[in-house]
Amino acid sequence: MKRYLLTPGPTMLAPTTLLEMAKPIIHHRAPEFIPVMQEVRENLKYLFGTKNEVLILAASGTGAMEGAVTNTLSPGDKAIVVDGGKFGERWTNICKAYGIEAKVIKVEWGKAVNPADIKKALEKEPDIKAVFIQASETSTGAMHPTKEIAEVVKNCDNTILVVDGITGVGVFPLPMDEWGIDILLTGSQKALMLPPGLAFAALSDKAWKFVESAKLPRFYFDYKKENKNIKENQTAYTPAVSLIVGLQEVLRRMKEEGLDNIFSRHDKLARATREGMKAIGLKLFAPDSPSNAVTAVYGPEGMDTGKIVKYCRDSLGVTLTGGQDQAKGKIFRIAHLGYYDKFDVMVGVTAIEFALKSLGYKFALGAGVAKAMEILSE
Ligand SMILES: Cc1ncc(COP(=O)(O)O)c(C=O)c1O
Repeated sequence: MKRYLLTPGPTMLAPTTLLEMAKPIIHHRAPEFIPVMQEVRENLKYLFGTKNEVLILAASGTGAMEGAVTNTLSPGDKAIVVDGGKFGERWTNICKAYGIEAKVIKVEWGKAVNPADIKKALEKEPDIKAVFIQASETSTGAMHPTKEIAEVVKNCDNTILVVDGITGVGVFPLPMDEWGIDILLTGSQKALMLPPGLAFAALSDKAWKFVESAKLPRFYFDYKKENKNIKENQTAYTPAVSLIVGLQEVLRRMKEEGLDNIFSRHDKLARATREGMKAIGLKLFAPDSPSNAVTAVYGPEGMDTGKIVKYCRDSLGVTLTGGQDQAKGKIFRIAHLGYYDKFDVMVGVTAIEFALKSLGYKFALGAGVAKAMEILSE
C-alpha cells in the first residue's frame, strides 16, 4: 500500500533531503563540517528573521521549550502561560517542573487568545518575567496573534515573549527581530521537512540579558554555551550530524523558494483544505483564527472521528491525526505544512471523502474535492 503522511509532524521528506542524509557521515570536529554549519547558520537567520544566532539542539522541540524556561528564569519567578491546547499545557508543566509560578490564561480549545487579556495580566502583575505562547496550537489548529502579543510585551522592559513556533516557523510570518519576539523555537520534523531530532532556539538581545541573571538549573540545554559554540561553527555536544547535513539541503531549497512564496503556498493549501471540508458539510474546529499548518475538523454528528482516522490509515494508507484529550473522538486533523503541494491536499480531502462514504455519512461525493481544486487553481 502506498503511504501518505499528512500529520503535523513528522512531515514528509523530499527525496533530495533523504539522499543527502544517506551520504557517509562526516565528523563534526573535522574541517568539512565547518562550511556546512556556516551555511546553515546564515540560512537559519534568514528563516527566523534575526541577526542573532539560531541555536541547534539535538532534541525534539520540547527540549528547546524547556531550555527557554531554564535559561531565562529563576526559581519563584512568575510567568504568563497562554493555554489553548495540549502545547500550551506543556508550557505550564515545564514551568511547574522548575518552580515557576505559572499564571495561566485559559483559552477555549479552537480559539485564539485575546492580546488584551495578556496586557491586562501584565498590568496587574508587572513583575511577570515571561509570556509563553504557541504561534500555532497544533492540537486545535488555532493560530494565536503573535504580532499583536509582541506589541504588548515589547513595552515591558522586565518581560520577555517566548514563542513556540514549532508549527509556525516556515509556515507563516514570524520575523522575530521585526516583531520583537524574544525567543522563537521550532523543531526539525515540521515545516523544516526533516526527521525528528533537531530543536532550534533564537534569542533577542533582551532575552540574552535575561540569560545573564537566570538561576534555574541547567546543563544539557545551556543556551550560553551553545551560543559560544555556534559562533565557532560547532555545537557544545555531539550534534545530530546527518540531520544537520539534511538541514543544509532543506534550507537551500527554502531560500530558493523564498519565504513569501512559502507562506503563500501554505496559505493556499490551508484554505483549500478548509473550504474542501466545509463543502462536504463539516465544521472547522478553529474557524476564527485557523493555522495554516494544520486544519482541525469536527466529524459528522455522532461519528467517532477515531474511525475516520483509522479508515484513512488502514484502508487508504493516508495517515491523519485525531483529536487529543477533550477533542478526542470529536475532531480529525489534516496537516499541510512542509514538503507539501496541491496534490497532497487532494489526497487528504479525497481520503476524508472515501472514509465518510464508507462510514455512511450522506453528502455530495466529490464536493470537497471540487471546492479544493477551485481554490488550488487560483
Ligand atoms: C506547537 C507544538 N509545540 C510543541 C510540540 C512538541 O514538540 P516535540 O514533540 O518535538 O517535542 C509540538 C509537537 O507536535 C507542537 O506542535
